[in-house]
Amino acid sequence: MNLALYREFRPKNFDEVIGQDYIIKTLKNQIKTNRLTHAYLFCGPRGTGKTSTAKIFAKAVNCTHSTDGNPCGLCAECVALSEPNTDIIEIDAASNNRVEEIRDLREKVNFPPLIGRYKVYIIDEVHMLTESAFNALLKTLEEPPKHVIFILATTEIHKLPATILSRCTRFDFKLLDVNALSEHLKNVFDKRNITYDEKSLYLIAKAGEGSVRDMLSIADSVASFCDNKIDYQSAEKVIGLSNRENIKNILLAIANKDMNSLFLSIKSALGAGKNIQVLCKEMADFIKNLIMIKVGVTDYSVLDILPGDFNRYAEIANLFEVDYLKSAFSKFAKIELDLKYSLNPENLFESACLELLSDGGKAQNIENIPTKSAGTPIQNSGVEKVSEIKREQTEIEKIWGNVLLKVKQNNMFAFSNALNNVNKVEEIAHKLIVHTNDLSSFETIDNKERIDVLLKLVKLFDDSIVAVEVEYDKDNASSQDIKDNLKDVFKSKIKFKE
Ligand SMILES: Nc1ncnc2c1ncn2[C@@H]1O[C@H](COP(=O)(O)OP(=O)(O)OP(=O)(O)O)[C@@H](O)[C@H]1O
Ligand SMILES: [Mg+2]
Ligand SMILES: [Zn+2]
Repeated sequence: MNLALYREFRPKNFDEVIGQDYIIKTLKNQIKTNRLTHAYLFCGPRGTGKTSTAKIFAKAVNCTHSTDGNPCGLCAECVALSEPNTDIIEIDAASNNRVEEIRDLREKVNFPPLIGRYKVYIIDEVHMLTESAFNALLKTLEEPPKHVIFILATTEIHKLPATILSRCTRFDFKLLDVNALSEHLKNVFDKRNITYDEKSLYLIAKAGEGSVRDMLSIADSVASFCDNKIDYQSAEKVIGLSNRENIKNILLAIANKDMNSLFLSIKSALGAGKNIQVLCKEMADFIKNLIMIKVGVTDYSVLDILPGDFNRYAEIANLFEVDYLKSAFSKFAKIELDLKYSLNPENLFESACLELLSDGGKAQNIENIPTKSAGTPIQNSGVEKVSEIKREQTEIEKIWGNVLLKVKQNNMFAFSNALNNVNKVEEIAHKLIVHTNDLSSFETIDNKERIDVLLKLVKLFDDSIVAVEVEYDKDNASSQDIKDNLKDVFKSKIKFKE
């Protein structure tokens, strides 16, 4: 069996990395002039070369015969570093995000490299580290041993604390344009003896949406569908399938309560190179279009489809009840954010589909507290604010309980601990105000990014909330009330620090 294209064509030296010329030139220069720094930050979208470049860099700084900054691939160091070794240490922060792991790293950094001049730590998905892990890492970044280089990589730069950012040399990887992608694809196909026409090449390159890896995964599916002789019609079929037919099939499977076909359709959608978050967003967009068509919208500036596609969409829209579409829409729109934070997005997506399937689209669980926006997803832009009725305090507390659960489920430990010290939540004029009488918890929560996360989470349960604020109640040795109430509502699901 052939290796996946994106694995087979992982760049082995700087010259094989495409579309990141500025970064490559700078890194090569640093190597040639021996002006290295101790911490680098590679950020940017998925599949644009961050990890590949980090690995090449790690070899290049140790190579004893490098030419033009590239690792030679032949010297003793290059050879030893191509095998599993203890000098290039790759850490996936998504699964090693705890403070213990970073402490372990801090002890080990002091041992000198065994092969070359430098030990290189590549910390992938660094935004997944917990707060205490970040703090531990920071200490090492402040005074690293001379023989250590850190390369932190992330797709979500906004989640890194400023203290980390300020200690790294930052490089922003860019999405590639369609010409650069199709030129690369042409080389790959030629090397693999896959035949193609120019139109298919362009279609596949475009479907990559700027990511080399996504493009190569899609190319893989197309090539295997066409038995390595790609023609435009088949390419269109495979790529088109991922966007429209697959989504239709997933919806139909849910509506028909057909689990077998549900799993097959999801697999087929993902097999076409789609990332699960992208798939979820496409599902939501697609369903929104169906709803609009069902309620009679014909204006193409509102509908997000091409005029030539209208009839096809209308046909699909006719297959479903509008109520079913409404609950499907709100489900997929809601889990989009969760998918981002989830360690296992595929399971989360599948479980959302299964939930829709088993309750016929009319979910009513603790997370589906009726809100003003529920049932009217099309206009839930949050503009028609100012409700006359003052909401029940218990409803706000329930929403808060759900938010706590989400934070906990997503392993944001420090944040979750701080939130456990919240003694009161209230809603005033669509603003959620969170009170605590614990100063250190207040300081942890009172941070723009955390407040943003809170607002996003709160909005999952009530779209009418427009802001979140935290207040420090200095003199209020306040009540246990909210904790007691929440314990009642959620029984054992929330554990409070006593
Ligand atoms: N700039 C590039 N030049 C050539 N190939 C690339 C480039 N970017 C990605 N690729 C291809 O995609 C694969 C994955 O790339 P890589 O792991 O470096 O991406 P990444 O930016 O680290 O992605 P992620 O954010 O998902 O970790 C590589 O093996 C290679 O086939
Ligand atoms: Mg990577
Ligand atoms: Zn070498």
